[in-house]
Amino acid sequence: MKSRRDQFGHVKFGAFIREGIAQLATSLMQSVVFYAKRPAMWGEFARAVANKLHGPPGDERAAATLRCQELAKLKYEVLNQLEIPLVDVTDLLEYKGARKRLAERGITVAGAADTTLLYSTCLQRKPVSVLETGVAHGMSSLAILLAIARTGTGHLTSVDMPYRASSDDSYVG
Ligand SMILES: C[S@@+](CC[C@H](N)C(=O)[O-])C[C@H]1O[C@@H](n2cnc3c(N)ncnc32)[C@H](O)[C@@H]1O
Repeated sequence: MKSRRDQFGHVKFGAFIREGIAQLATSLMQSVVFYAKRPAMWGEFARAVANKLHGPPGDERAAATLRCQELAKLKYEVLNQLEIPLVDVTDLLEYKGARKRLAERGITVAGAADTTLLYSTCLQRKPVSVLETGVAHGMSSLAILLAIARTGTGHLTSVDMPYRASSDDSYVG
């Protein structure tokens, strides 16, 4: 990696800014090429650009936040109400192994699902079919699949969007 300081240890601001602009331009070009190749995602591209420029529509965000706050319940409350015993998936070796591999790669997922809620529900309800939208690095998929493996019944279908950073559509879905 190139040093951002001169021989006296002073930060080279010119080089720093040029590097930043080059990175931004590369990322922008990658986005444009990524979306240009996928007409089905042009609507999503338009939404992403509008969000970048203006942020999500204020009214929509406020209404969605309010609605979520109204609906939000504690995991324990939900499981109790549905009479589903809580079984902690995070104790399982397979789960610990997956978490460790993610941590080793420095991967964190913002807005991840409550995997114990998923695991407990699938264990007790034994669904024939589970449809999951939003896979990311697969921790929620793993929780559902561990329950399916334990009960010996069920099928999981998971969908996601292609990841711009990986630019590999076979990676998800
Ligand atoms: C917070 S992550 C999911 C985390 C995962 N369920 C877990 O608990 O580990 C959200 C995921 O939703 C996906 N996603 C966002 N919008 C989507 C859409 N319209 N259709 C399918 N997947 C979408 C993102 O690509 C991302 O992988």
